[in-house]
Amino acid sequence: MVESLDLRSRLAQALSAISFEHSERTAATAVKLAKTHSADEEKALTAGLVHDAARDLTDEELLKRAKEYRIEISAIEEEKPYLVHAAVGARMAAEDYEIVDESILSAVKNHTFGQTNMSKLDKIVFLADMIEPKRDFNGIETIRELAEENLDKAFAVAFQMQLVRLINQGKVVHPKAISVWNSVAKEVGKK
Ligand SMILES: [Fe+2]
Ligand SMILES: [Fe+2]
Repeated sequence: MVESLDLRSRLAQALSAISFEHSERTAATAVKLAKTHSADEEKALTAGLVHDAARDLTDEELLKRAKEYRIEISAIEEEKPYLVHAAVGARMAAEDYEIVDESILSAVKNHTFGQTNMSKLDKIVFLADMIEPKRDFNGIETIRELAEENLDKAFAVAFQMQLVRLINQGKVVHPKAISVWNSVAKEVGKK
């Protein structure tokens, strides 16, 4: 695995200043959450730094990469290539940034729609991306507090808020996010 200093400088070159600074804040937040919840801080740092590796690619580049990597593209993604930035980013993390750890690649891949059976690191990176210090939306304080206390609950509430927000804004919801939500709702319903 590349050292985080090297990874940082390469990402600083590849990303816009806005995305790079967001990635740094996401990484710092992920490390904090990893510390609180006894997860691997090194992996949280790396995953946080690299999670948006594909964030600044143009739509054409995203689709081209997705095809190269044989990532399945649905009609929704074809229309909004931004939706594949997590899946493409995970492959870029492996191929361009030489990250081999599957748990880190999984956290990158799942930082937008999640997946069923999220690992602790998946949840940490998902939440860190959503609550890093410069983020601001209605209800964020609730998620920030929950993230300190209970990762599973924080993820469930964060995921729910994200879906509701997308719907309220009239935006497209990826079918994968709906199926992840159904499994989250089932889990939450049990408790
Ligand atoms: Fe992202
Ligand atoms: Fe992000």
